[in-house]
Amino acid sequence: MQSAYRPIRVALLGAGSVGAQVARLLLENSEELAKRVGAELELSGIAVRDTKAKRSADLPAKLFTDDAESLILSSDIVIELIGGIEPARSWITLALNSGADVITANKALIAAHGPELLELAEQLGAQLYYEAAVGGAIPIIRPLRESLAGDRINRVMGIVNGTTNYILDQMESTGADFQDALSEAQELGYAEADPTADVEGFDAASKAAILASLAFHSEVAVEKVHREGITSVNALQIETARQAGYTVKLLAICERVGDGLVARVHPTLIPLSHPLAAVRGAYNAVFVEAESAGRLMFYGAGAGGPETASAVLGDLVSAAKRHLAGGPGISDSTHANLEALPVQRVNTRFQITLEVDDQPGVLASIAKEFASHGVSVETVAQSASSDGNNAALLTIMTHMANEGDLEELVAKLEKNASVLRVNSVIRVEGI
Ligand code: NDP
Ligand code: HSE
Repeated sequence: MQSAYRPIRVALLGAGSVGAQVARLLLENSEELAKRVGAELELSGIAVRDTKAKRSADLPAKLFTDDAESLILSSDIVIELIGGIEPARSWITLALNSGADVITANKALIAAHGPELLELAEQLGAQLYYEAAVGGAIPIIRPLRESLAGDRINRVMGIVNGTTNYILDQMESTGADFQDALSEAQELGYAEADPTADVEGFDAASKAAILASLAFHSEVAVEKVHREGITSVNALQIETARQAGYTVKLLAICERVGDGLVARVHPTLIPLSHPLAAVRGAYNAVFVEAESAGRLMFYGAGAGGPETASAVLGDLVSAAKRHLAGGPGISDSTHANLEALPVQRVNTRFQITLEVDDQPGVLASIAKEFASHGVSVETVAQSASSDGNNAALLTIMTHMANEGDLEELVAKLEKNASVLRVNSVIRVEGI
């Protein structure tokens, strides 16, 4: 293709699951991408640790280098796909300072250092794009940042971690316990050998911080996100939920509360009729509630090489067009500066399962504890405990209750002589 412009030099940092696919697609689709951008995109090099390692795509050996800094300094756009905090942070900083625009899929880095990197980009008139950092292939950053910028978002609720969704889905559909479902997820390559970031909710918390920052035009530090993982979810809890018409999902929920916001990640019951209940396997979905737009749902592959590469290449086309047009780029607005409040400020429903002595007056004493903490009971179901120890299993669904009140109630129930065990306390959303 004929173009008035010299090729735009694109540096790629990383050639793992995502990076190798970005390189492949960039090379395979170079003509089409050049037409969309209005200038050729030249993949000027790929920085990795091991330049001789086999890659998931057939890529020219001459492109590989272990000298990331020289590559960065000779590029117009830098795509960071190595992950982690360092050296990613230093290399992005170097790229911005050298006048390059930057694209990253690194949610851990954006959640921890996004504000400082975005501020630097803004000062320098550069772009920092990160569409792939949340929801893989799903367009969600740009809709929040641009398409919904004229609306008021009240809530964002999503399944943003595919590994945990896969594990919970397996537990529900096969009756497997957590460990077996995790082992299967590892065998299939969904879960890492060290699954901590996924199963303890760190990955989802990073994504929640990013979503909350964008949705509410505020800086939300990842440390302010309330985080619970799925390691304590058991097969009985899932079965009990199912019988009551619910499914268990690890949700990231970001919402306005009073004059502030709360961002939280935890296992949650949602009704089987809720759109998020239909999100199976390793898929992701984000449900947005905006004042004028109403309810929107974004659904698709939250991970995977080619899928995530699609989002990265979308950012690349935007960055390249802006590189040609010049001028300041879009920046994230943090003008609202809402305070990130503790989870105790949230009001929600809860399902509580208790093992209690099957004796006269026990139900009344438990009901009294609920009443004295201002927690209203919606339904109670009682069944005999499977242990056959003259105990009963109570499944109590509350009306909307304050999280702080509920914490105090549970502490009291744990000390109640008639309560043998508080089996589980799980929040309920989407009713
Ligand atoms: P991988 O671990 O598969 O690949 C990382 C790549 O970075 C490797 O090529 C590695 O080189 C290179 N690398 C790591 N450290 C260095 C270093 N110090 N110097 C030079 N190169 C280095 O990661 P993914 O492709 O899975 O993920 C990349 C990013 O995308 C992460 O931020 C991740 O969170 C994000 N992401 C990933 C998704 C996925 O489905 N995998 C989905 C959404 C986002 P070498 O191969 O030589 O060791
Ligand atoms: N580990 C993440 C997940 C990858 O399971 O969703 C995508 O960020």
